[in-house]
Amino acid sequence: MSTRKSLRLQKSRGDTTPATPIHQNFYSPRLRSSVKRNLNSSFGASEHESLSPTKLLKAGPSPAKKNEKITLVIDKKNMTCRPLFRYESSESEDDYVSRSRAVGKRKVKSPVKYTHVNVSPKKTVNKGVEELHFTPVKNKLLEKDVFYDGCRTPRTPRSSGKKATPRSTIKQIREGTITPKVQSRTKAMELDDTPLKVARSHLHVSYVPTDLPCREKEHEDILSFLEGKLFDKCGGCMYISGVPGTGKTATVTSVVNHLLKAAKTGDVPNFQYVNLNGMKLTEPRQAYVEIVKQLTGKTVTWEQAQSTLEEIFTKKAKKMKLPIILLVDELDIICTKRQDVVYNILDWPTKSITQLIVITIANTMDLPERLLMNRVTSRLGLTRLTFQAYTHKQLQEIVTKRLFGTNSFNPDAVQLVARKVASVSGDARRALDICRRAAEIAEVEGDDTLVSMSHVNEALKAMITQPKVRAIKNCSRLEQYVLQAVISEVERTGIEETVFSNVYQMLVSLCAVNGFNSVSCTIALRAISKLGACRLLLVDQKCHDLDERIILNVSPDDVYYALKEE
Ligand SMILES: Nc1ncnc2c1ncn2[C@@H]1O[C@H](COP(=O)(O)OP(=O)(O)OP(=O)(O)O)[C@@H](O)[C@H]1O
Ligand SMILES: [Mg+2]
Repeated sequence: MSTRKSLRLQKSRGDTTPATPIHQNFYSPRLRSSVKRNLNSSFGASEHESLSPTKLLKAGPSPAKKNEKITLVIDKKNMTCRPLFRYESSESEDDYVSRSRAVGKRKVKSPVKYTHVNVSPKKTVNKGVEELHFTPVKNKLLEKDVFYDGCRTPRTPRSSGKKATPRSTIKQIREGTITPKVQSRTKAMELDDTPLKVARSHLHVSYVPTDLPCREKEHEDILSFLEGKLFDKCGGCMYISGVPGTGKTATVTSVVNHLLKAAKTGDVPNFQYVNLNGMKLTEPRQAYVEIVKQLTGKTVTWEQAQSTLEEIFTKKAKKMKLPIILLVDELDIICTKRQDVVYNILDWPTKSITQLIVITIANTMDLPERLLMNRVTSRLGLTRLTFQAYTHKQLQEIVTKRLFGTNSFNPDAVQLVARKVASVSGDARRALDICRRAAEIAEVEGDDTLVSMSHVNEALKAMITQPKVRAIKNCSRLEQYVLQAVISEVERTGIEETVFSNVYQMLVSLCAVNGFNSVSCTIALRAISKLGACRLLLVDQKCHDLDERIILNVSPDDVYYALKEE
């Protein structure tokens, strides 16, 4: 059954509005040309003449009176169009249509009378007849677009259809009353049923090993420090430093977990544990907010949090019942010029009424001295512990223990990874990543493939093609020497941040060793700015002299791999 569509328009006699041809606004190009052809043939106009309602009505078989309304019936299926005149008689439109069908599609016997059909747009919607309504003045489409036949560009929906989180819910999340939930899985997780899959999951950095080989001494030191303070009922501060991936966080977490278990069984005095990570804070002073939240469960502003903590640690009335162990990981990140947050964290244990034991972790060895005056640090009485980079034997042991029982790696492949990593940084994280990548490469060959040296070499090659490594390869020889000089300086001092004067001295020595003329300060500064622009180095934007501060923004391993190929 063909869909009949009627278009109703109001015509004012003598008035030529609307001047715009009606079909141009609402039809798709294909339908428009077809309707135009049919209309023109109906009214005797040439195909290229534009059709205006005025013309159409002028040419039509019967004149319309002033303010009369005429309906155009458009048959979209047959691409035909005819004017529909409403009769005063009781003849319904369906009767009229069936009669006109019998007579012929567009032939209308000269109607005797016309009537003014004054129907509101909404009421004119008929069964089986979809209608388009518009007025000549506004040319506004009132009903849904029935001419859409797929040719028009689809409109972009205004909203994605997803419901926004209600404000009240967001407020509750901020206040900590409710915590956001992760949607439950629709599919069950894949089981690690092959040796390679088991190996891959054990090599992932998020995997928590039952014990930490090669860190037994450090584990013992931290444990005895904490136990001693808990039993002595006094506060204290320990500063742990070491290059990335040397197991600082893993060791401290393992010690605290051990103590929490011991506290439950009553082997050590009970305590409250607060865990802070500089990386997770948006701003250093948020440290106060986080500590208060973990201690009291309340979320307050940083000013309120600071005064609450001052009261807890200095006023007897506000003294906490249980001792507090506060772990501050990534301390370097919360260091600002004002140094107030770091100073308070290191100072509270000395004057606290509540027993407070602080463990801080950072990459640089002399952070407290650089931040706080020597006099102050000596008063703080810091206990220090440095985590040395792993040797190749230690790395081999760590990886082998993680792979225990999987029988998926050739021991030579593990040794190759350990040697490669130990020669550069001694970073356990890097060794685990390379082994994991090698396992992925081997898995492509089959589930039971043994990871060999060739897979490890492929994994190392994949690392070399990383964008940062490629960027280093494309640097000039001088820029590569600058990067090497910065790494040497960081290794020499054990401090992540260095200054231009030190790097320049190292650069001159490097140039001399490699048979190059020594470079001037200006050229070296220019090379450093270029490396800063590529973000391979982080440089002080304000100061471009001997005191310019420089930080390496890539892993030393990347520099090593990039330059090794040369
Ligand atoms: N002795 C070890 N035995 C087993 N796994 C280890 C050992 N040391 C480090 N790892 C693993 O190496 C990864 C990095 O360790 P961790 O996060 O403790 O390093 P980090 O010294 O805190 O580094 P960063 O300074 O970057 O924070 C972790 O997945 C950890 O499990
Ligand atoms: Mg860490």
